[in-house]
Amino acid sequence: MLVADENLTDADLKMLAAGSRVMTNRIDIARRLASLPLVSQFGDFDFNAIAADSLDSVCYPVSKEKAVVHHIANLCFHCLKTGGELVLAGARQTGIRTYARTIGDYFGARAIAEKHRDCYRVVIAKPGPVANTPLEDSDYDNLRPIFNLDDLPVLSKPGLFGWNKLDQGSQLLAAHLPDFFSGFERMPETALDLGCGYGYLSLMAVRGGIEQVTATDNCAAAIIACRANFDGHGVDGRVIADDCGGEIESKFDCLLCNPPFHQGFSRDYRLTDRFLANARRLLRPGGRALFVVNQFVPLEKRASAFFRSVATVVSDGSFKLVELA
Ligand SMILES: C[S@@+](CC[C@H](N)C(=O)[O-])C[C@H]1O[C@@H](n2cnc3c(N)ncnc32)[C@H](O)[C@@H]1O
Repeated sequence: MLVADENLTDADLKMLAAGSRVMTNRIDIARRLASLPLVSQFGDFDFNAIAADSLDSVCYPVSKEKAVVHHIANLCFHCLKTGGELVLAGARQTGIRTYARTIGDYFGARAIAEKHRDCYRVVIAKPGPVANTPLEDSDYDNLRPIFNLDDLPVLSKPGLFGWNKLDQGSQLLAAHLPDFFSGFERMPETALDLGCGYGYLSLMAVRGGIEQVTATDNCAAAIIACRANFDGHGVDGRVIADDCGGEIESKFDCLLCNPPFHQGFSRDYRLTDRFLANARRLLRPGGRALFVVNQFVPLEKRASAFFRSVATVVSDGSFKLVELA
């Protein structure tokens, strides 16, 4: 079985042997897998469908977040046969050498590491049916309150980007929403939250007067958390797993976005460009988008390839808001 998170977005998945099982938390990877002769599963790394002691090997290029790596290592021990191997891969800065040690200790086995240029391949075999104390995974499966909005908890969980905080850039965007909405000829009714995470911008848009909100993200954990927050805050909105909003057909009066500029461990503006291209496609004529990005991201330049009107409307020294029409 291969465990594929965003690090494998650009991998050549056709290389996988027919019949291999792939577990992914990214809808873009799941869609690419759908045309291949593989057994794939999209979800928040839910291993319930995999029987205990059933797998010969699991390959896993380690994720960026420690809680995810520990969660997957704990589940792998359970699903591997005795003698089965967990094969980890990652560059030095992923923490792979520490994982070799900690996961090896948990399995009660020696991790065998091989260096390939700046990457490591680590093999840990399951020596027997009983492991040591499970690795700390920040209670991966469960949603928990992060902060309150109007006395209602906003829930989040490990596995989604910046899960345990309120993003400073998103706060800046939310504070500017009244001004943004007042720039329309009449109050916009529909909004798309592109790359919604746990749905903070959607919740704020609804509080600001938006009647119909749609939220989308490519990450399974984000979809789970956003859906829970819509339910908990009485928001009758849609939550859609999608890759940069590429399969959404409706058009929106306005669009809110705090786009990613990393894919896994590397910086990647191609992703930002795909967000911008879909933002243009998904706005109705006369619609407007409000993006927030780190000050150093050249969003204005990139956005001018897609929008005629590009204006930096706020800048706080760390983040800037860019309005596109
Ligand atoms: C900077 S976070 C913003 C999260 C949220 N909007 C907020 O304000 O807290 C960027 C979000 O984009 C999502 N994302 C990354 N790649 C994506 C893709 N290809 N399609 C859709 N969403 C993606 C991430 O999962 C993450 O939730």
